[in-house]
Amino acid sequence: MSYSIRQYQAEDEHDVVALWNLCLPRDEISLNTFRRKVVLDPNFDSRGCYVAVGKKKIVAFLLSLCRHYPYFDVGMERGLGWITVFFVHPDWRRQGIATTIIEKSERFLAQNGVREIHISDYTPNYFIPGIDLDAHAEAHRFLRARGYVKLRNVYSMGRSLIDFSVSKEMMDRFRQLERGGFSVTVFEPRYTLRLLEFLRTNYPGDLYRVALDRLRENPECDEILVALRDDKVVGFSHFEEERFGPFGIDEVYGGRGLGPMLYYHTVEQMRKKGKHNLWLAWTTGRAKDFYHKVGLKVLRRHEIMKKVFD
Ligand SMILES: CC(C)(COP(=O)(O)OP(=O)(O)OC[C@H]1O[C@@H](n2cnc3c(N)ncnc32)[C@H](O)[C@@H]1OP(=O)(O)O)[C@@H](O)C(=O)NCCC(=O)NCCS
Repeated sequence: MSYSIRQYQAEDEHDVVALWNLCLPRDEISLNTFRRKVVLDPNFDSRGCYVAVGKKKIVAFLLSLCRHYPYFDVGMERGLGWITVFFVHPDWRRQGIATTIIEKSERFLAQNGVREIHISDYTPNYFIPGIDLDAHAEAHRFLRARGYVKLRNVYSMGRSLIDFSVSKEMMDRFRQLERGGFSVTVFEPRYTLRLLEFLRTNYPGDLYRVALDRLRENPECDEILVALRDDKVVGFSHFEEERFGPFGIDEVYGGRGLGPMLYYHTVEQMRKKGKHNLWLAWTTGRAKDFYHKVGLKVLRRHEIMKKVFD
């Protein structure tokens, strides 16, 4: 069946969203989220975004990009580029469409100085942290055949909050921390400056950006919690709807139960606000072990993949 490939155009949005939801049922997207995270991303460049057209219909889509603007402390990430999403209509697969599109996007990225492509740890507008090893096994095989290799595994995790409780042992630990001057509280505007300062020093990338965004939207946001040592902010956690994170404490105070204390208080606040479940999109390494200990189970396994050019 014959097809042609061209750059994305504004009128394509409805068809692309419909095809997206057909091809990626685990990662459905609304039209407005598509607009917000694709076209309104300051790094969006239609020269890196393609559709395939077959029988006058859009049958494939791919989005690739690199930074044109620095992203908080993460900066420009020069030499790095991302392919954040791609899919082909089921009736049009195994005809080389994805191969043709990905080659075009690799050329576009190379012309923009990219030496390494990731799929896809792009902050803040990633859609899926990496290739979903269970739901997108076909894509994994496709990328392997195109020379992409594993960068690392990341996991989505979650749990029900209906049966949530804190053990007596944990409560004793929290009391001990309180005696040592630590506490956890729901955010109040009087913490704003101290919180932002803590984040700028300890987590100047995405955590700082999330706090800024949420507090700009609502300077009294009660979906943020802070850990305090006396009056100093030493930890931050955040949730939105049932999605937990980001989350981080000052590493100097690690290893004494402050992380669990902040986590448990955050869950209490989520429950007070009527949430029945908790999930997080992406974790890895030691953080994954921590979440496992506090009762979260792996929901999805992803592999972030990369390809390096000489
Ligand atoms: C992954 C996907 C885009 C591939 O599209 P496609 O147009 O069929 O890919 P191509 O025809 O260019 O495939 C090229 C090569 O990839 C490999 N490949 C692709 N699909 C494969 C499959 N189902 N099994 C084994 N290998 C496969 C093969 O090496 C293939 O070459 P071959 O056909 O000569 O054997 C498509 O399967 C898809 O849309 N999947 C769902 C969406 C998705 O998971 N996206 C990733 C998350 S963003």
